[in-house]
Amino acid sequence: MLAQAVEQPIFSVEKLTPAHGSFMEAAGIVGASSAAIAMKSGSGEILGVLFAARKPTATYAAFTEQELGDLRHVASLISVSLEQRVMNENILWRLVHLVEMRDPSETGAHVKRVSATAVEIFDGWVQRRGMRAEDCQFLRNTLRVAARAHDVGKNGISDLILKKPAKLTQEEYDTMKHHTVLGAAHFPGSASHDEAAREVAMHHHERWDGCGYPGAASIENMSGDTQRLLNMKLPSTGIAGDDIPLFARMVAIADVFDALSSHRAYKEAWVPERVEQEMRNESGKAFDPELIDIFFERLDRIRAARARYPEQIATPRS
Ligand SMILES: [Fe+2]
Ligand SMILES: [Fe+2]
Repeated sequence: MLAQAVEQPIFSVEKLTPAHGSFMEAAGIVGASSAAIAMKSGSGEILGVLFAARKPTATYAAFTEQELGDLRHVASLISVSLEQRVMNENILWRLVHLVEMRDPSETGAHVKRVSATAVEIFDGWVQRRGMRAEDCQFLRNTLRVAARAHDVGKNGISDLILKKPAKLTQEEYDTMKHHTVLGAAHFPGSASHDEAAREVAMHHHERWDGCGYPGAASIENMSGDTQRLLNMKLPSTGIAGDDIPLFARMVAIADVFDALSSHRAYKEAWVPERVEQEMRNESGKAFDPELIDIFFERLDRIRAARARYPEQIATPRS
């Protein structure tokens, strides 16, 4: 029946039978009158199907023309909001690709590994709370995209700093810290993907003990859309503990783990034992202790997920 709805502007049935689709029986709506309306974007792309069913009574059987008109109206309202969401996600992916193009050999692989690691930590966090993985798919996808965009603010950092083949000076390092705020300024919207991407971009260098950054960032020295930056609510100091958004805490662990495990222009990749020791040492200092426990519980899976995105050449820092 849903397939038929895609073919026609509106598809209504006076009495549903199991022949209309196996889920009719499972949902206990055999015998109900129903209507299905395809929800389409402006360009005709199918975004979903609105399905309505009502048990027929002596007075009401099939949906009336008036009711079908109301359903059509509701479907068009939902289509607009669905299309908006698809557009927001597309824009976000374009931003992600933009930062990956800046240095596809390293930054691209880095953000993919960070995203894969953060999602593994999220899965462990969901499991610990006894939540159903199916119920958390939307959040999981939101984190996956937000983690891919965590370093998007590096677009606003000069190549002289971003690709410097040596350790940064203190002044250069301070400028590099601006990528957090610049990244957050890319996501001013209130949609959940935007909100998550903003929080992760802004706070992925915070530390559990409050000594991370951006802290009191000085906007005057930043390149980028000044007006948008001025409108942003910035933290006055590094935030600590549970005040750091959950997704940013997950990405912080994934980001440092990747930086330590990878070759960079200013350092060799650390051996796994040294990386693990450092991650353990930083539990409760840089990192959320519970998330570090989850990280170690799932380390084999994390290593397998990271292996899908090998780096070729190293240049920028995390
Ligand atoms: Fe970063
Ligand atoms: Fe990073």
